[in-house]
Amino acid sequence: MTATKSLQDLFVNLLKDVYYAEKQIMKALPKMAKKAESAELRQAFEHHLEETEGQIQRLEKVFELCGVKPAGKTCPAIKGIIEEGEEDMKDAKDADVRDAGMIADAQAVEHYEIARYGTMIAWANQLGMREAASLLKQTLDQEYGADQKLTKLAEGQLNRQAAA
Ligand SMILES: [Fe+2]
Repeated sequence: MTATKSLQDLFVNLLKDVYYAEKQIMKALPKMAKKAESAELRQAFEHHLEETEGQIQRLEKVFELCGVKPAGKTCPAIKGIIEEGEEDMKDAKDADVRDAGMIADAQAVEHYEIARYGTMIAWANQLGMREAASLLKQTLDQEYGADQKLTKLAEGQLNRQAAA
């Protein structure tokens, strides 16, 4: 456990948290894609899986910029969100209802990430780490994009199918 005495320490701790989170998400997304009834939803999950691989690489670059070896730190928050998602997937007895539920749970993941990347960008800027901030901003934009795509799928079609 690293003692946090500086903003730099806070930044590295959060980096480790998010690194762990992204790796958990990497494992969860293929399961969600497999369970998706809607082809569009499956593609959205598969696309975000590819993005997540790139996001992990960006985090590794940020570790390098900090002079710290990439390492994850267990993040109970993301673990809990993913566990809840897995339960919802198991409990849903109707494929369309499961799709609507998976979107909701995936958006909880995205919003967690959006909160964390937003903070990391602010701290990187404060610490004068411009390159790190710009790498993290690229990922934040992808997370916003993924979130918006899920909203469109839910509100455009899949919520209605779940209600039918
Ligand atoms: Fe991500």
